[in-house]
Amino acid sequence: MKKIYLYGNWKMNLNRGETESFFGDFARELASSQALVAAMGKTLEVAVFPPFTSLAAAGGAIGKMKGATPILGAQNAYFEPKGAFTGEVSLPMLKDAGCTHVILGHSERRAVFGEGDELIAKKLRAALNAGFIPVFCYGETLEEREADKTFDVVSRQLRAALAGLSALETEKIVYAYEPVWAIGTGKSATSAEAQEVCALSKKLVQEQTGRSASLVVLYGGSVKPDNARELLSMDAIDGALVGGASLKADSFLQIYKAYAGI
Ligand code: PGA
Repeated sequence: MKKIYLYGNWKMNLNRGETESFFGDFARELASSQALVAAMGKTLEVAVFPPFTSLAAAGGAIGKMKGATPILGAQNAYFEPKGAFTGEVSLPMLKDAGCTHVILGHSERRAVFGEGDELIAKKLRAALNAGFIPVFCYGETLEEREADKTFDVVSRQLRAALAGLSALETEKIVYAYEPVWAIGTGKSATSAEAQEVCALSKKLVQEQTGRSASLVVLYGGSVKPDNARELLSMDAIDGALVGGASLKADSFLQIYKAYAGI
């Protein structure tokens, strides 16, 4: 069985108390499922991305867990290390809060907060320089897909993000293909649609680096227990970036169980 990456993007959800109860359930679910615990050691990598104000609660709960523990990540960061940037949070601050991963380029950052390719590329570089694993999100809107522009958009977003990075840096990134029309809509891409763009992403990155190193590409957009098996069985898809279904420990872990048949 291939290694599966199961990453939960909580977005602007779960305060401190809710985070503590999430981890209570999460730890119980793990303890009650020996098969899952055994499988985690070998084939599952779980990460959670709480809002900034819940990072400390999440880090505290993870610190108390035994056995395989989830990775802690943040949903965004600014590229400068400190200074007069009201409302922003820096990568050194996130490291101090226990984060090793950071989501960058999410479509909600692009669409709601106006982040463009150039700013996202700066953040990506800063995250790599600070020793983070960036989870780089990209994907087309419905209009772009309907106009047959999916490959163009995805290529542009990937090229802009990777310009100037070394092959090694490029290979450290976790890529997350998230078609905008599938996010939070309940309408996932079909496994064939997701597979096609994830495979294209790997090819584009490999062309850019001139190397054939293996890359991690996740699919995100309405992943749920009932569509997980089909999506995660596709060979170009290494895992899922999950929004809504990651807010409850049981539906989140159920995604892996559905895939693994446990
Ligand atoms: P969703 O969100 O699973 O709720 O569609 C995915 C994401 O935005 O990462």
